[in-house]
Formats: sequence, structure tokens, C-alpha cells
Amino acid sequence: MLCIDELPISGKKLLFRVDFNVPIEDGVITDDHRIRAALPSIRYALDNGASVILCAHLGKPKGKVVPELSLGPVANRTGELLGLGVALIPGRIGDQAVKACADLQPGRVIMLDNLRFNPEETGKTPEERGNFGKLLASLADVYVNDAFGVAHRENASVVDVPKHAKVCCAGFLLQREYDYLGDALKAPKRPYVCVSGGAKVSTKLGILNNLLGKVDDIIIGGAMANTFLMAQGYNMGQSLVEPDLVDAASEIMRKAESMGSVLHLPVDFLYAKTPKAKQVEGVCTAKTVPTDALVLDIGPETITNFVSVLKLAKTVVWNGPMGLFETTAFAKGSLAVCKAIAGLDDSLTIVGGGDTDAVVNLLNMADKFSFISTGGGSFLEFLEGKELPAFTALKECMK
Ligand code: 3PG
Repeated sequence: MLCIDELPISGKKLLFRVDFNVPIEDGVITDDHRIRAALPSIRYALDNGASVILCAHLGKPKGKVVPELSLGPVANRTGELLGLGVALIPGRIGDQAVKACADLQPGRVIMLDNLRFNPEETGKTPEERGNFGKLLASLADVYVNDAFGVAHRENASVVDVPKHAKVCCAGFLLQREYDYLGDALKAPKRPYVCVSGGAKVSTKLGILNNLLGKVDDIIIGGAMANTFLMAQGYNMGQSLVEPDLVDAASEIMRKAESMGSVLHLPVDFLYAKTPKAKQVEGVCTAKTVPTDALVLDIGPETITNFVSVLKLAKTVVWNGPMGLFETTAFAKGSLAVCKAIAGLDDSLTIVGGGDTDAVVNLLNMADKFSFISTGGGSFLEFLEGKELPAFTALKECMK
């Protein structure tokens, strides 16, 4: 897979697939870190004499032009961050986009509107996606994929454009994700610890199964731990559990033991009678969860246990909070884990997926981690050991 800095790009038009799927409320972007993450590649292209055509998706408009899901606010914000105008070519890709791309001058940037306004972009088969990838490829001289967030999606802009583009490469963001999540974890320094949290075991089964035997320790927190404890026979009161995954949890615990990964589960919790509670109503052990309450954070003894495992770690991959961190009273566990990982010197520390970076940002500790992935679903699938369609397409393209 080639990276953007390995190609001659002066005077060329570059079609950049970026992941600018940012939260927007009343037309205002509430978190622009995904836009900022792609700026190094865009700036590099402009500084080296290229012009840039940005393409991205926003939400799920399902092949219809939905004005609220236009990339207008994103084009404006990108322009502000780059310090130059970024014109949006509105609506579906058609004559207007073809002309705007043809007229584009070196050093300039334009943005195509939401790719998912075009029904072919998310077509499930090559037939359903039709010639859309070919059309996109024809707009530029070089295709640059810098969209790790959609690397697991078989969308036309991810898998079909590389088949038709004259030249393809990864942007710096995509390359870094590949280097950290792929290469760096192939020969991890030990102890290698995986911290897995969040609400559901169902979304983490793939990762846990893939990492069993590869990691030395697996720390499990968040509501997903409840299903493991249920499998051990504990009564979790009104807590969130996935009864249909109790067998899968038992199987993971059995395999962990036989494959040499030590599994660490919570031994105590903070609880309340409702998930809307603003205050902790009590502390209980895994054996004494009140029948009318639900556990909403790991307790003090669990924090001590988890932190003592993390203190020795030389490689950590963390995905998912330890409790309902959005409520201050139930954020202690997630913050303690975050601080413990952030405090590791000389260790490789990788964070990604879902809400995990939100915990890091609560403490303003992003710079204390080796790498924070921009992926949600793609991060999980990468760590499940799958070859993501975006990488396959880029590698095939250069053959
Ligand atoms: C994300 O937000 O995780 C990516 O942008 C992918 O979006 P999608 O789940 O709508 O494909």
C-alpha cells in the first residue's frame, strides 16, 4: 500500500475519500476532530502543488437528497481550518460536479456533497453500485483514501474507486491506523493488556475471540461484564445483561484459561435504582447486587485491581468505558482506567471505538496516549483480525 508522500502529485487532481461523519446540531458541528484528523494529508497535497476534491458521507440518507444531511457545514468548517474557501458542489454527483472538478486549479479545494445521496454508493453488490465508482475515479488523477472510519464498509467510494483510479494511495491518517493497529500489534511488548468495556458483549465477541491467547490479560468492565458475571451464576438485579450471550461468555472464559490470557472481571460496583440516577445509591459486591437496582460503574476494589494490572502493562488496547461515564457520579471507573493507561511511560497505548475517546477527552489526556483511532466499527473489525475492504482495495489497486 502506497502512502501519499511516495507519489509525485504536483499539478495533479487528488480525489480524497475522508470520514467527515461529524455530529451536527442545528447546523453547528459539535465535534470536528474527524475533520482535523485528515488535515495533514490535505495540507501536504496543497503544499506539494496538487488540487483536492474531498468526498465524504454524513449519516444515512439512503440514496435520497436530504438537505439536513448536506455537507455544507462541513465544507465551511474545513475551509476555516485550512484557511481557504472550500466550495460545496451540492446534491448528487452529476454534470455540475464533473465541471467543477475539471476546472479545479492547483492549490484549491472543493467538496462533493454527501456521497450517500447517490443510491449506488451504498449498493450491497457491485451491480447495485454500478458505475458510480468509475464516475468518481474519473474526476481525478489520483485516489487518496484517508477515511479509516469507513474502511470496513463496501461502499463504492471505498472499494470501487480504486479499481478504476489511475493511481491509488493511503493518506497519512489511514496509514497511521494501519501502522498502529496492524503492524505495531503484531509483535507487542509484554505484558499486553486488552481493556474492553461498553454496554454489549455482542459487539465485542469478535475482538475478544481474536485476542484470546494473544494478550496476557483481558480486563472487562462496563455493562458487558454483567453477562460474564451472570454466566458465573451471579444475580445482577436489574442491570443490563444479554441472557442469550451467557453461553458465549462462558466459552470465552473457558478459552481464556486454556489459551493463557487472564480474564479480570469486576468484583464490586456502584449502583442505583434507575439509569437516570444522578447520585450513587450504594456500593455492592458481585454477590450482593440488590434485586431492585442496577450496577452503573465499577467499584473501588475493582478499580484497584484493574489499575494494578495496567501498571505493569507494556502494550494496552482500550475499547469501551467501564460504566455510565456520561453521568459524573458513575464516571470514576472509566476515568481511573484512563488515568492508569495515560500514566504508563514507554508503553504502547492504543484507544479506539465508540465512546472511549470521549472519556479521554473528558480528562484532556489525548496527548498521553500513543494512538487514538478515528474508527468506531472499523476499529472493532480491524482488531477482530479482519482484512478491511479499504485496505484490500488499495493493495489490489497497486498490483
Ligand atoms: C462512523 O461514524 O463510524 C463512520 O463514519 C461510518 O459510518 P457508518 O456507520 O454510517 O457507515
